Amino acid sequence: MTSVTVDLDELVFHPWTVQGPRAVPTFVSGSGSHVLDGDGGRYLDFGSQLVFTNLGHQHPRIVAAIKEQADRLCTLAPGYSSDIRGEAARMIVEVAPEGLGHVLFTTGGTEAIEHAVRLARLHNGRPKVLAAYRSYHGSTTTSIHLTGDPRRWASDTGAAGVVHFFGAFPYRSAFGSTTPEEECERALAHLEQVILLEGPSTISALVLEPVTGSSGVIVPPAGYLRGVRDLCTRHGIVFIADEVLVGFCRTGAWFAVDHDGVSPDLVVFAKGVNSGYVPLGGVLVSDPIHETFTSRPYPAGMTYSGHPLACAAAVGAIGAMRDEGTAAAASRLGTDMLGPGLAKLAASHPSVGDVRGIGGLWTVELVRDRETKEPLMSIGATGEANAPMTAVLKTCLDRGLVPLILGNRIHVAPPLNVSDSDAATGLAILDEALAAADTFTGQASVS
Ligand SMILES: Cc1ncc(COP(=O)(O)O)c(C=O)c1O
Repeated sequence: MTSVTVDLDELVFHPWTVQGPRAVPTFVSGSGSHVLDGDGGRYLDFGSQLVFTNLGHQHPRIVAAIKEQADRLCTLAPGYSSDIRGEAARMIVEVAPEGLGHVLFTTGGTEAIEHAVRLARLHNGRPKVLAAYRSYHGSTTTSIHLTGDPRRWASDTGAAGVVHFFGAFPYRSAFGSTTPEEECERALAHLEQVILLEGPSTISALVLEPVTGSSGVIVPPAGYLRGVRDLCTRHGIVFIADEVLVGFCRTGAWFAVDHDGVSPDLVVFAKGVNSGYVPLGGVLVSDPIHETFTSRPYPAGMTYSGHPLACAAAVGAIGAMRDEGTAAAASRLGTDMLGPGLAKLAASHPSVGDVRGIGGLWTVELVRDRETKEPLMSIGATGEANAPMTAVLKTCLDRGLVPLILGNRIHVAPPLNVSDSDAATGLAILDEALAAADTFTGQASVS
């Protein structure tokens, strides 16, 4: 492992961690599915950073689009009309689910969630918002309160008007289900009860990741999203799909809701829209909600909304995704490489409790015991208590792979244009990392 602790890094206040000297690789360049450190070390990026480099690093078409825009006009206030902003909006609307004809641009996912909830509350005048346990929606005020995992706890004031419910999760069913069909039916019945008991007239919106990302890579059973759509329609609740992590081809479709043929009222996006080359997020707005603001002003905005360089990057990225068939490539990556490859690893490693995913987004959930499903380490474990995941991380880095580890899970989400041979190399390294994890279960790997 090439581990460079750069003094200057200590001047940076780092998110989600204790402050102080760190021993992490320092990356100075990238190419395709790899990032490179200053000593010539080359690492396979098996999590697309934080699942955003959907087209890998330094994609020539995105870089060229940014450069071209930088030569012309680097920045412009959001109040003026901009050719590149309009073109980005046109291309986003073109690939979006039906009925979402306008785009409110932000500089990232959390900001977009804040605006989606504000749009919903102003549209129907109701106070509460429903969100799922095991979800992540961002770290600003409303979005962290919507978040349904321990990342919320330290910031929760208990006063955000958020009500959490259980989504569909076949591996750890909250409803004792034994089949995906049963889980779908029971999760929808539970959601309906929550809506009825909270009072539909008090609920403005329901925010849901159509495939849960960083809180567990949970793919809902077929029909669940359609059921949620129907419940929202029946009770006048704005359905907000949080596609920040799964939008723009990650799951093998332009948007994850496409798998269930569903059109939400608002779709929140960021990350993959331009592979994160310049910060960009936004909200796709349905026609009835847009209509609300044709007679009264929308009372919010941001200096950098629809930044020209970020929009240029989106134009380059969406054009490349369209011409390179990225949605189909992601689907094939799941069915031909990651799905079967990870299932094979699960068969030989007792620490693997579950492998699940879709397209280019998978997770390997590590447990102490497959029968009880007890996680390999407890929630929020650090130091010695987190030794299993530290061992996994070290094994990966030592072999030139940057993994994405969250809690007791290794998330597998390489760039969607990763080559088959690089994907195979990544799986072989994970095989070794899982052998390290196995030692904490008291059971040996099966070769
Ligand atoms: C589903 C989801 N929503 C919202 C966010 C917040 O986006 P950002 O980090 O760009 O603010 C994230 C970030 O990982 C996410 O995964």
